[in-house]
Amino acid sequence: MQRVETITALQRLADAERSAGRRIALVPTMGALHAGHIALVDAARRCADRVWVSIFVNPAQFNDPADLENYPRTLEADLEACEVAGVDQVFLPGAGEMYPPGCETRVEVGALADPLCGASRPGHFAGVATIVSKLLLAAKPHVAVFGEKDYQQLALIRRLVRDFGFDVEIVGVPTVREPDGLAISSRNVHLDPEARRQATALERALAAASSEVAAGECDRDRLLAGVRREIAKASLAEIDYAELRDAATLEPAPATLAAPSVLALAVHFDPGDPKRGNRVRLIDNCVLHPQHNREDSPS
Ligand code: PAJ
Repeated sequence: MQRVETITALQRLADAERSAGRRIALVPTMGALHAGHIALVDAARRCADRVWVSIFVNPAQFNDPADLENYPRTLEADLEACEVAGVDQVFLPGAGEMYPPGCETRVEVGALADPLCGASRPGHFAGVATIVSKLLLAAKPHVAVFGEKDYQQLALIRRLVRDFGFDVEIVGVPTVREPDGLAISSRNVHLDPEARRQATALERALAAASSEVAAGECDRDRLLAGVRREIAKASLAEIDYAELRDAATLEPAPATLAAPSVLALAVHFDPGDPKRGNRVRLIDNCVLHPQHNREDSPS
């Protein structure tokens, strides 16, 4: 497995792979790799000859300096995990390589960046769009792989690629979960045991809403009330947002769901023991497919 630290070196390697007719798949990450990231690597291998992983904790997407400082950094373990997963190359740029002095250009995304995590974390998605653009230009991949866990991020990367005409295919990978349903995230390590136990409330709320929709429920407010009730059972949880939005445009869902809708959650967990834990913000989502009213369907 090779390591590369500069954009120019990566571009030359991309040119060489491309002239040899090999397909490159890029998996952008911020490190602290876990089974969710490895699922992206496995998906990448299925659609390309070379799998490249980038590891860069992108300061531009952190609106809270403490969050940036506390972000887990586990480089040695990450390199080992990449080696085991059969990654061909790891791109490890320093902050000065991605944002050299005087680098002021930023990519702004439109309305897709405004709601949900964009409202809670101002500037976050401009930071994501900027770094993803720079990584695509550096690695020149045929395919780039992202997780559906970060639903809004994936939606706006698809839009970015379409709007700028990036010559890359974006592949989305379903959320990888712990056996008890909690979506795997680098932030889970900050949950203390009681908060960790209660954190399954997100997935339970999503599962309950999915079963209600499968049973014919399509009233937005009743579904959201059910979600809030389920999360309220976790005493350490405080909802940041719980929303239903159109799965494609992220526009607010109508009062009666008619099209596929994303149920998106962000929940803060206070520490069970304030001496042992941090406040942690978790996100999760699922797409709900409202059942068509039988009377409306063609016979
Ligand atoms: P990071 O949080 O490291 O996540 C890297 C990729 O892993 C993202 O595409 C994310 O959606 C995916 N991922 C995380 N947890 C997952 C899970 N449980 N199941 C499936 N996929 C999962 O997302 C970022 O980094 C950054 O914003 C980045 C795109 C790298 C830009 O800096």
